[in-house]
Formats: sequence, structure tokens, C-alpha cells
Amino acid sequence: MTTAEISTDLRSRLALALDVDDAVEAQRLARELSGFFGVAKVGLELFSAAGPPVVQMLIDDGYRVFVDLKLADIPNTVRRAARVLGALGVSYLTMHAFAGPAVLRAGVEGLTEGADRAGLPTPAALAVTVLTSDADAPPHILAKRVTAAVEARCAGVVCATADVAEAKEIAPRLLTVVPGLRAAGSPVHDQARAATPAEALAAGADLLVIGRAVTAAPDRTAAASQLLASLS
Ligand code: C5P
Repeated sequence: MTTAEISTDLRSRLALALDVDDAVEAQRLARELSGFFGVAKVGLELFSAAGPPVVQMLIDDGYRVFVDLKLADIPNTVRRAARVLGALGVSYLTMHAFAGPAVLRAGVEGLTEGADRAGLPTPAALAVTVLTSDADAPPHILAKRVTAAVEARCAGVVCATADVAEAKEIAPRLLTVVPGLRAAGSPVHDQARAATPAEALAAGADLLVIGRAVTAAPDRTAAASQLLASLS
């Protein structure tokens, strides 16, 4: 499979996790893999290293940017941080659902306000339900966190592939964003509930987050082709 065979629709549903500590390295990865991924995810590591300019850099390179900062603080602080991030032109922002509906709601409002003030489209606020590295979360917690996301009017949730069906049952219109993806039989690193991209799509995931399965491979383009070969 070549990048030319990845449809525009599929590419827009694939997010590349740029978990590096340097903007130059992030741009190198982003440019190398732009044929496969339409969304670039900036997490705590890259945002701590490179800050807001890295968002604009990736937008200039044609990406929609997913800022994965997993905000969780008092409502006023989350609102104000989300307002700043909304004005940067991001397309997605994460908050921790464990912070509760009032915090999530403040984040949604701040994000919308920041984007409005900058004349930009409203970004999608995403509530992180259970970390995919967490093997011990009690079963009832997913429903509680999805419900908090709905109450707060988040656009979506981040969850494991195994949780997509339950999340969609509770809230069919919520976007489901799924990390923890690997080729079958390959190392799962710190992900306790890994799945393949094909399994995630079959489960109904809207956006797939892919990181080390591609970025840590010796030949990243080949790894992306191989990993995504079963999709389309
Ligand atoms: O390298 P890997 O594919 O495991 O990266 C997964 C990415 O998704 C990381 O950037 C991680 O921070 C993020 N993430 C996650 N689990 C969540 C939410 C986000 O692994 N529940």
C-alpha cells in the first residue's frame, strides 16, 4: 500500500502522536508521514518543549492540530487556558473527564470563546475517559465519564477500542477518539488495552491516534504502510 492509496477520508481520521521534545524533530516526522495522517497530535512533551508556535508550524504544513494537554484544574483555570488554546487554531483539545462536568463545561466554553474571538471554527473538546495505560479502572467509571462529557457538551471522548461500543450506546453523537493502537502481535509499550487500527475502526472509532507503532519504527513510512494496509 502506498500513501496514494489512503483515501482523504481515512487520512482525516488518522492522528499522528508527535511525542518528541523538539519542534525540528516534530516537523521532520510530520512532513515524512503527511501522506498517511491528516491530524498532528501535540502532547505534553512537545508542547512543553516548543509551546504555541509548534501548533502554527503544523497548521502551516497542512495538518489539523490536536492539542492533547489533558487539562484538569479548577473551572476558571481550565476556561482561561482553553480560551488561549482555542485562539491558536487547534482542531481538538483534551481535558480529563475525572475533573467532572463543571470543569469540562468551563473548558468547552473557553475553547469556543477563544476560537470565536479569533474568527476560527469551533474546535472539538474531548474528554479523556480512562487512560489506555490503566488496566485497573473499575467498569462503572466509563459510563460516568462519558455522561460527564455529554453534560458538559464536549464534542467527543478519548477511550480504548474496547470502550467505543459502550460510549456510543450512551451518546451516539459523541466522537470517539482511540489511542493505544498497534499491529497485531507487536510491542504494546505502556498501553494496557491495545488494539489494531482495523479493530478500532470496526468498533466505530472516529479518530485513530497512532504514535510509537510508527514513530519508533526503524523505517517509519514502511511501518505506516504496513499498519494501515488493512484499512481503506
Ligand atoms: O505511542 P502510542 O501510540 O502509545 O501513543 C499514544 C498517544 O495517545 C500518546 O500521545 C498518549 O499520550 C495518548 N493517549 C493515550 N491514552 C489516552 C489518551 C491519550 O495513550 N487515554
